[in-house]
Amino acid sequence: MDSYELRLGKDIYRHYCQTCHGETGAGDGFNAFNLDPRPRDLSDPVFQKKKSDAEFADTIRRGGTGVGLSPLMPPWGHTLSPRQIDEVILSIRALRKQNPSEPAPGGPAANPTTPRRTLSRGPA
Ligand code: HEC
Repeated sequence: MDSYELRLGKDIYRHYCQTCHGETGAGDGFNAFNLDPRPRDLSDPVFQKKKSDAEFADTIRRGGTGVGLSPLMPPWGHTLSPRQIDEVILSIRALRKQNPSEPAPGGPAANPTTPRRTLSRGPA
């Protein structure tokens, strides 16, 4: 059974995030087709391992622009309270796939359908 916080987080995710990030976090929400770069697969276990909760919180609070990612990722710091951000991070953690998808030869987590530009990280 999901914890209370996780259930709240899932509600927030469905309400604010799913249109772009998709129901399973794969970056295939109905809005995602016109996003370039597309949101990455949040359910990818390799990606999940690389990112700390603090990094997620930072991206969610300040948006893509704040952390050198695409400005298409909106900032949520005015919409969600710090507690709600913690809750939605729980829901992202819950999206993690159990089994890593086939590891790409020579490197982790390259999503072939999502060419990623390398954006330089500007000052915070
Ligand atoms: C309007 C579309 C849109 C919505 C709505 C949206 N996102 Fe995003 N998000 C994006 C895009 C596009 C990226 C990829 C940015 C990049 O890779 O440059 C992203 C990236 C992210 C990342 C960072 C992934 C990484 O590479 O580190 C996290 C975490 C994230 N979103 C969480 C959320 C959460 C939580 C919500 C809801 C509160 C949300 N997003 C709502 C479009 C959206």
